[in-house]
Order: sequence, then C-alpha cells, then structure tokens
Amino acid sequence: MSDERILVDVAGRIARLTLNRPDKLNALDADMISELAARCREIERSDARVVILSGRGKAFCAGGDIEAWSGKSPEAFGRHWVRDGHAAFDALARLAQPVIAVLDGHVLGGGLEIAACADYRIAERHIRIGQPETGLGIIPGWSGTQRAVRRFGAQTVRRMALFGETFPADEALSLGLVDQVVDTGTAMAAAEEAAARVLKRAPRATELTKMLINIAEGEERERAVEALAGSLAASSDELAEGLKAFRDKRSPDFGKDT
Ligand code: COA
Repeated sequence: MSDERILVDVAGRIARLTLNRPDKLNALDADMISELAARCREIERSDARVVILSGRGKAFCAGGDIEAWSGKSPEAFGRHWVRDGHAAFDALARLAQPVIAVLDGHVLGGGLEIAACADYRIAERHIRIGQPETGLGIIPGWSGTQRAVRRFGAQTVRRMALFGETFPADEALSLGLVDQVVDTGTAMAAAEEAAARVLKRAPRATELTKMLINIAEGEERERAVEALAGSLAASSDELAEGLKAFRDKRSPDFGKDT
C-alpha cells in the first residue's frame, strides 16, 4: 500500500510531487523516503515533462524526522537511513524532467537537501533556509555536504551547517540558494508559470540538456554517459541488424568492412 504522505498527481504534462505530512512539518521518515524513491520512478515513466515539488502546510520540509532517526543504532543510521535517503534524493535529482521546488514554508536540514535536488527553487518572502543538524549532534547526511556544496557552493553550506545561520528568502536569493523570491501565497502560481516555460521547449532536447548539466556537475556521470551512448547505439542500423541476425540464427552483416 502506498504511503499517502508522499503524493504524486500527473495531470497533462505536469507531475505534482507533494510532501503531505503537515502535522509534522513534512519531516521525512524511512517509509516516506522509500515512497519518494518509488514515486520518482513512477514520474520518470509518466508522460509528465516537468515536476512541481511542494510541501503541504506551513513548512516546505523541516528535515529528517528527528524521532525516527534518533532511535536508530549507529549501524542502522549509516547503513539504512543515510543510504536510503541518498537513493531517494538521487532519484529525484536525476529525474528526466526538470523539477521546480515551491518553497512556501521553512526549509531545514533534509528539507534543504530535498530542495537541492530541484532544478529551480521559488521561495516565498517569509521563509527561512538552514541546516540545523550539527546543533542536534548529527551531520547533514542526505547529501547536505555533497550535492548542496556542488549546487550552492561550500561557503554558503559552511555558514548554515557549521555556523548555524538560517537565511531569509532575499538573502537566499543573493547566495544562489533559491532562484526566485515571490510574495507569500504566490509561489505555486510562479511555479506553474515556470513549468509553462519548460513546456514550451522541446522535450527531448530539454531532457538531454538536463542530463548534460547533471554530468557537468558530477551528478550522475556513469549512468548519464551510458544512457546517452545507449540511446545513440539503439537508434543505429547496427542494433536492428544484430537483433535480426540473432533471431534468424545467422551471423550479423554489419557492412562490407566488418
Ligand atoms: N522531526 C520530527 N518532528 C518534527 C520535526 C522534525 N524534523 N520538525 C518539526 N516536527 C514536529 C514537532 O515536533 C511538532 O510535533 P508535535 O505537534 O507532535 O509536537 C510539529 O512538527 C510542529 O512543529 P513545531 O515545533 O510545533 O512548530 P513551530 O512552528 O513552533 O517550529 C520549527 C517550527 C521548524 C522551527 C521547529 O519545528 C524545528 O526546529 N524543527 C526541527 C528542525 C530541524 O532541526 N530539522 C533538522 C532535522 S535533522
């Protein structure tokens, strides 16, 4: 049975991925993380061409569920909590479709890590962004020192993760943590406008370009290079001939030079 705390709704060409645990400020526990990974696979295979990521209630996401992780043994923390979080967040960051994050409430810890997976972040003026983990005696373990550094720069991450600064939206904009600041109550509409801009562009070229940007950023070099080469090989006559020869139980004829 699916976990209703992570929702996906695909309508037209837009997939809406929603964190739906408002009573706990969308804090993420292990089941939500597993569900997130599964829902990303569902989005990847859908007809959606752009994704809007948001959180219900007053926070976008207040991070990993403190009650959930604090009860884990050190082994389970490293083996499952961190690894499963990485798997889910990697799946989100590596979606074929561009992802737009609607930051209409606070973005803390794991909330920053999930927002970092998006390709475009829209913040409402009242929100704050930070990484409180070291104040709790833990590290930002869902790529908050890795993808966050790649995407936002080490110094901004140092200020949040080592010095406990939480940035208001305007400062987050000047630091590159978010791409746009809008009035309270208008981030979803702004995200829909951004999604409409994506939908005007060529889908295949957009998907390939996202993959190339991710490669340049060190996001997913191995898979992306093989996916690009695999698509190229799969569109050649060589594959058609190789498969036909296999089915005809004969040697393939790849041309007179082979
Ligand atoms: N994990 C688990 N539960 C969380 C949570 C988290 N990261 N963040 C908030 N919650 C829960 C609260 O315990 C509270 O639950 P309760 O109503 O059953 O007591 C509920 O969400 C609402 O939070 P509350 O603290 O009452 O809201 P607030 O508006 O007063 O404060 C924050 C908002 C974000 C400042 C505060 O909730 C907070 O500091 N959360 C922790 C953020 C954090 O350290 N994240 C990193 C985790 S690694």
